[in-house]
Amino acid sequence: MTQHPTRSVPIVACLSGDGIGPEVMAEAGRVIDAVSALFGIRVRQVHLPFGGEAIDKHQDPFPPHVRAAVKASDAVLLGAVGGPRWDGAARRPEAGLLALRKELDAFANLRPVRHRDIDLMVVRELTGGLYFGSKVEGTETAEDTCTYTRAQVERVARWAFRLARRRSGRVVSVDKANVLATSRLWRNAVNELHAAEYSELTLTHELVDSFAMNLATRPQAYDVILTENLFGDILSDLAAARGGGLGQAPSASIGFEPPGIFEPVHGSAPDIAGQGEANPTAMILSVAMMFTYGLGRRDVGRAITAAVDTVVAQGIATADQISGGRAYATWEVGQAVCDALEHHSTGGAEFADHPYAEVPAHG
Ligand code: NAD
Ligand code: IPM
Ligand code: MN
Repeated sequence: MTQHPTRSVPIVACLSGDGIGPEVMAEAGRVIDAVSALFGIRVRQVHLPFGGEAIDKHQDPFPPHVRAAVKASDAVLLGAVGGPRWDGAARRPEAGLLALRKELDAFANLRPVRHRDIDLMVVRELTGGLYFGSKVEGTETAEDTCTYTRAQVERVARWAFRLARRRSGRVVSVDKANVLATSRLWRNAVNELHAAEYSELTLTHELVDSFAMNLATRPQAYDVILTENLFGDILSDLAAARGGGLGQAPSASIGFEPPGIFEPVHGSAPDIAGQGEANPTAMILSVAMMFTYGLGRRDVGRAITAAVDTVVAQGIATADQISGGRAYATWEVGQAVCDALEHHSTGGAEFADHPYAEVPAHG
């Protein structure tokens, strides 16, 4: 774990958040403890209020002391934020999440889906587009502005190309270039970067509407999917639906340097919160991504992923995953992963030195 050469025990800022967030975060903590014992490593978990919980305590979804703590951490683990209680509030929990991503400049959001014959990776731009443009909110008129710069497109496209080099070498860039100016800039910038630096890879382009149909009907056809912020939000839930559901979909949000943010794709699931039935798999796989992409421990990330695969194969699953048979509780699935980890403690060295180092800090 090499980000802070002077820090032998990496600090993980744990933002449990709202709804099922704390329930799945508890299992993440157990998995970190289990791999710590198994691999002989130490990880300091620091719990901080965030989202709705922080609004209740501090009238701010991302209070200054939390901001300072996450910036001083080596990686951020996040449960989920939001819920009907805060939907009418002046400051919403989701605003804290957007501010966190912006503050850490976590511009590349990696959302893998591995399920049966599906093995794809959505690379979603995370700090630009409609989410972050200027807004007008009136009662009769409202406005969200979509802006992208060439530099914003290039830096996230580099992550996509770099991942494709380690995968099947294929990138599809998804846009709406038949209508949107930002999409035409996007397509040109991706094409030019590809020609200049990654011409050995296969790059194709698809329009987002027909791409959505293709992704729904034949997700096996895709490997790395590169797209802008809002399209990526929608398409990653769609991909997750074809890949075992939201309960199994993890993500990593990374920029040029740590800390990155590691969080499930799903939200706070208010409909099932507090009942101990949330699927912790997406959160646990986000812990795996944290070790791989955030802490330079691909071996630990692999072990966690393999343990989750074992537990899924054993049929130890929460209610969202089963049709008939017994539904296991959140804690039981977490425990099963910890038990399975005992059998998975070796792995390769992909990204082992410094996962951020290969993405040049220009562009
Ligand atoms: P959601 O992802 O919370 O839930 C969608 C459906 O999937 C629900 O039926 C839910 O029960 C189910 N589901 C989600 N995660 C599950 C899990 N781990 N195990 C079992 N079932 C699971 O989406 P939503 O209902 O549209 O949003 C609820 C709240 O979450 C909103 O306030 C939204 O803004 C917020 N949200 C937050 C994040 C985040 O913090 N990263 C992401 C998405 C949505
Ligand atoms: C996600 C969520 C967030 C997003 C919301 C809660 C701001 O849906 O992480 O996918 O739209 O990015
Ligand atoms: Mn989403």
